[in-house]
Amino acid sequence: MRKKAKFQVGVRGAMLGTMGFSAVLTIYGLKAKFSFGSSVYEGKERLEGKTVIVTGANSGIGKSTATELLRRGGRLIMACRDVDKCEEARREIMEITSQNNVVCRKLDLASLDSVRQFADNINKTEDRVDILVNNAGVMGIKERIETEDGFEMHAAVNYFGPFLLTHLLLDKLKASAPSRIINVMSPTYKANHINFSDINFKDSYNASKAYGRSKAALASFNLKMAELLDNTGVTTYAPMPGVVDTNLKRHQITSPWKQFVSKFTSWLQKTPESGSQTVLFCALNPLISDQSGFPYRECQREDNEGSVNRQLPRERLYLTSLVWTGLKDADEAKREFDEMQEMAKS
Ligand SMILES: NC(=O)c1ccc[n+]([C@@H]2O[C@H](COP(=O)([O-])OP(=O)(O)OC[C@H]3O[C@@H](n4cnc5c(N)ncnc54)[C@H](OP(=O)(O)O)[C@@H]3O)[C@@H](O)[C@H]2O)c1
Repeated sequence: MRKKAKFQVGVRGAMLGTMGFSAVLTIYGLKAKFSFGSSVYEGKERLEGKTVIVTGANSGIGKSTATELLRRGGRLIMACRDVDKCEEARREIMEITSQNNVVCRKLDLASLDSVRQFADNINKTEDRVDILVNNAGVMGIKERIETEDGFEMHAAVNYFGPFLLTHLLLDKLKASAPSRIINVMSPTYKANHINFSDINFKDSYNASKAYGRSKAALASFNLKMAELLDNTGVTTYAPMPGVVDTNLKRHQITSPWKQFVSKFTSWLQKTPESGSQTVLFCALNPLISDQSGFPYRECQREDNEGSVNRQLPRERLYLTSLVWTGLKDADEAKREFDEMQEMAKS
């Protein structure tokens, strides 16, 4: 008798547990899917007469951000590595927004040459650049890939490419001030620091560290540029979109089982529209025009965290990046950094 009662209690407990778990999962899923609790940017700013560049605008968060920015009446430049994909997305975006002031321009961030050609074209053909959204990115590439410039692929696309692009467009951004640079961030930046002895993962490669460190480098750049651009009217922001259902995970979903799990879990993630809200907040909100250099999450400012806060590594990364992207002479950069180290000691 006692055994039977125990069994019944056990079954009831298991059923309640399963129901509870399912309910929590459903609520969580609905919350994520329909963005309950996720912020929505409600500002009504218009962009007539302004020019916006969005990198990686053919997919995911970039496409969603580009759509909303075009809807607001600006000129949109979609900077994409695959022009066919870009044209397809452009047609779709024009149809959704009923706006047609949008062009596709080829930009492969894995090639410094391509970045130079893109920037050269923009500087020659565009009157202004008001918002630059460094959105394009890659994540989770299983095996180390080296680009034509000798960079590891995450480092190239997520950091060195945007670094060079931003510098080459700086004069236009300054001439169009008040203007903004948006560096799309991930919270992984907090737990990662730059390993100066192996920035390009030649000694040992780890996909998740490669992604995290590329974002740590971008966060450091975001803060460094805010310092450099103080009083120029050009401000920088690092929005974190949250966990969003996009093509970003393509390198991680390599088996049918992973595809199945991904289909299920993607339902629990934000839509690209929801994921683009903090990016839009950073690009448009007039109330944060004096709050440059910070990360933002759910349309709220956060503090910079991790190695980003340490000045010497930030300077070292900045000078290294200037040299590696061909913007500064190596000896000159070394002299500058040595002086900085001496000053820090004294
Ligand atoms: N999804 C998330 O949960 C999440 C979370 C935190 C941060 N983020 C960040 O959000 C940004 C956008 O990612 P997403 O989630 O929207 O992913 P996505 O859908 O994969 O979009 C990435 C975009 O970057 C482009 N891209 C990749 N390599 C490039 C290259 N070499 N040159 C130029 N463009 C290149 C892709 O072009 P193709 O279509 O031609 O490949 C695509 O347009 C990334 O910076 C990512 O790190 C995303």
